[in-house]
Amino acid sequence: MQEMRHLDHMKLPLDLPEDVRTVQLSLLKELGLRTDDWPRSAREIAKAVMALSDFYAKHPEKSSPWSERWAQVAYVAYYMPLNFWRLCGVLARGQQINFFEGFEHYIDFGSGLGSLGMAFDQGGLRFRSGQCVERSHEAISFHRKLSGSSRTPIDWSSSVSITQMRPNTLAILSYSFTELTELPPWVHKCEGLLIVEPSTRDDARRLQKLRASLLKVGWYVWGPCTHGGPCPLLELSERDWCHDRFEWTQPEWLKSIETHMPIKNGTLPCSWLMLRKTSPSQKNVGKARMTGDLQEFKGFAKQLTCLDATREFVAWQKRDFKNGYPDIRRGDLVQIKEGLIIRGNEIRAAHAEDVSLA
Ligand SMILES: C[S@@+](CC[C@H](N)C(=O)[O-])C[C@H]1O[C@@H](n2cnc3c(N)ncnc32)[C@H](O)[C@@H]1O
Repeated sequence: MQEMRHLDHMKLPLDLPEDVRTVQLSLLKELGLRTDDWPRSAREIAKAVMALSDFYAKHPEKSSPWSERWAQVAYVAYYMPLNFWRLCGVLARGQQINFFEGFEHYIDFGSGLGSLGMAFDQGGLRFRSGQCVERSHEAISFHRKLSGSSRTPIDWSSSVSITQMRPNTLAILSYSFTELTELPPWVHKCEGLLIVEPSTRDDARRLQKLRASLLKVGWYVWGPCTHGGPCPLLELSERDWCHDRFEWTQPEWLKSIETHMPIKNGTLPCSWLMLRKTSPSQKNVGKARMTGDLQEFKGFAKQLTCLDATREFVAWQKRDFKNGYPDIRRGDLVQIKEGLIIRGNEIRAAHAEDVSLA
């Protein structure tokens, strides 16, 4: 397992894998873009991305409009890469808690252009087989070309046969649960489940509700939660929603697309959930996940953390940290020392080692 502190210390990749970038450019050419004139292409891609973004905003429940050329351009040029980077971050979180150990097969439901497989390769995660379930022929055709050098042998289908499930299978839904009214029934035959969703309040709270219902039917949560109790952000607040955020360095070609759009992905947010049929190992127990950003006030700072079913913050007094508060970020896994003073909903940390990166 890779030793990790903050994810950004581990560094998300600086660019798409070289072979993927080459195929991406040739696909964009086939879609009629002048890839040798990137400033011009970037403007056209930005328009396509805005059209797709408007589509999702107006029809959050609808499936991706793959038959539209503008949707294809937006996905190939922009969303496929963004989801690749996002998934690299999520997979690194999973590797930190040994989530992927023991899986031999995966099913990627709503696989789109295969960002997940690319991220698995990037993270050095190999499986005996990967089944990509996708209903769009256009998406499958692009994905076939993009996955030419996939390290895991993959195949495509339009559905999953519940009678032909293999042991040690991990089900993944990346940005596809948002297009479904409920979880497909075959998921319950899998050993593990990873869901990645947009970081919106509605999507994230829906995922937190799903978590509660899955725990009731025998699943164990591995992450981001470090406990299997009720979710404090869902149960004790109407406004909170659990989401992560990854820091990254955008490649210039992607940055130039965003110069033409109001959307700027300076960081990559998403919400995610990892569950297995077995409980997490003992060494993950007692850790907490930082679920908020540092909030600084006069004389003190606090940060939302999740250790159990209580909604609480870690709080640091300025006088104890004259040289700056500890550098702990949203999504970090931390070890909170036992026996710290608790005042209301604040766990008071007076020394750097009271709350340390796990
Ligand atoms: C927003 S895309 C996400 C693609 C990819 N997983 C990613 O992370 O980039 C959602 C995908 O799910 C597919 N999808 C939605 N409902 C589906 C269903 N019932 N069966 C198969 N594919 C489905 C859509 O065609 C679309 O390609």
